Amino acid sequence: MKFARHGIQVATVVVSCLHDSHRCFTTEPLLHLHGAIPTKVRPSVSKTEFVCQHCDFRYPKWAGQCSECGAWNSLTETTVARPKTRDLKRVEGKRAPVALNEISNRPISRLLTGLSEFDRVLGSGLVEGTVVLLGGEPGIGKSTLALQCAAMLSSEGLVLYISGEESLQQIGLRASRMGLAESPVRLLSETNLEAVLQSANDIRPTLLVIDSIQTLSAPEIESASGSISQIRSCAEQLVRFAKESDTVILMIGHVTKEGVLAGPKVLEHIVDTVLYFEGDPDSRFRLVRAFKNRYGPVNEIGVFAMTQSGLRGVDNPSAMFLSSGGVPSSGRAVLAVQEGSRPLLVEIQALVDESPLANPRRVCVGLDNGRIGMLLAVLHRHAGISLSDRDVYVNVAGGMRIGETASDVAVAMAIVSSFLDRPLPAGMVCFGEIGLAGEIRPVQRGMERLKEAHKLGFQVAVLPKDNWTRKPMPGMEIICASVVADLVAQFK
Ligand code: TYD
Ligand code: MG
Repeated sequence: MKFARHGIQVATVVVSCLHDSHRCFTTEPLLHLHGAIPTKVRPSVSKTEFVCQHCDFRYPKWAGQCSECGAWNSLTETTVARPKTRDLKRVEGKRAPVALNEISNRPISRLLTGLSEFDRVLGSGLVEGTVVLLGGEPGIGKSTLALQCAAMLSSEGLVLYISGEESLQQIGLRASRMGLAESPVRLLSETNLEAVLQSANDIRPTLLVIDSIQTLSAPEIESASGSISQIRSCAEQLVRFAKESDTVILMIGHVTKEGVLAGPKVLEHIVDTVLYFEGDPDSRFRLVRAFKNRYGPVNEIGVFAMTQSGLRGVDNPSAMFLSSGGVPSSGRAVLAVQEGSRPLLVEIQALVDESPLANPRRVCVGLDNGRIGMLLAVLHRHAGISLSDRDVYVNVAGGMRIGETASDVAVAMAIVSSFLDRPLPAGMVCFGEIGLAGEIRPVQRGMERLKEAHKLGFQVAVLPKDNWTRKPMPGMEIICASVVADLVAQFK
């Protein structure tokens, strides 16, 4: 199409710009291509967009339901500043690409927090210039861990702790309860991002703690603090500051039970490391798990206990997850699970009960619900255990979440034990994956799991046949299984 503007014939080009997750099209002519028009084509104007507060999808018009994530009434109006000019200018002082083999392998310098469990999750400490996001439900212990970390590192360098949630008195009271009142951590109660960045720029701390990212607001963004555009903008500016100044930023992010606030999901892409607090807030044990780590292993866990004086690392987590021994009862099996680099023993509990319902319940806490359905089908088809008229409840003791398929054998054994109302032998540990054909498949790091159980005094181990290296293990009876039918027959 052709049309006249300023008396010159120009071609209209459809410019598509990728604006995050959606494409917007404009019919702005690329006038400068013809070289006759000044570079500034039109003044900067802002436009409004409707942003879903759940998934950050953008719409030009308001709608009652987000078509992307299905959330109702989640769209809020946001003003987006239009870029001043779309011309391709020469960038002053731009850097040239570097060949991979010319990059010097400078060792990464890491700051050890002194909290050994936290350092383990981070992959041997905090790396300079990185941003670590610590997410978790309210009251689980994020501020406590951040304050402990800040106090530990304040002896090595300057630490700035920004709190947008608590007053300085509240933080002071918490610090004195934890015996950290004497540490020289600099505290600032502030919610304005610009003020935070200015303070950080003046002080140049080694560690900057942001408690929490949801309370910060960037003045140039119109939406309220805690909204997805505020969180994204604040996080991006903080990440830029961290990279430019080599500061480590420990950023706290909230996840509410209702998922109302923009959760740290949006932030996961922006930051270098994502850690999540897990565990039941009513129990005193807490797990910190690495979900993303650009400088260390993922799925590594740190185990803590919440005490009167803050969080303490747990030296023997396996003993913690096993409920107090006592008389063996039906429906309990001990699983050797691999969490990151560490084998752990956890108790799997199952309850099989007659169901008054046409569709019996399958309730699962700490495990994948779909997997339980699959195991019940395998038990029925290959081991003759029919539970179609029974409710089945499965629980992982201690508030732990297990994502490994190596839990299959232990879950199946606990279900069979509850169904038959027959306890499994005392001191028995199991692990292994169950396939749809009823076969028991090997899992990774089998011998490490066995060693952990042996160390804790377990005397019987049920494991996949292919995991057994025939290395003698004194005082431990090894039961190798290759099909689920044989395994169930042994305990019937
Ligand atoms: P907090 O760290 O404020 O949680 P979050 O920042 O994740 O919202 O506090 C977690 C809970 O831990 C709180 O209910 C009080 C409790 N607590 C202790 O039991 N001992 C302690 O030493 C501290 C500081 C807190
Ligand atoms: Mg807090």
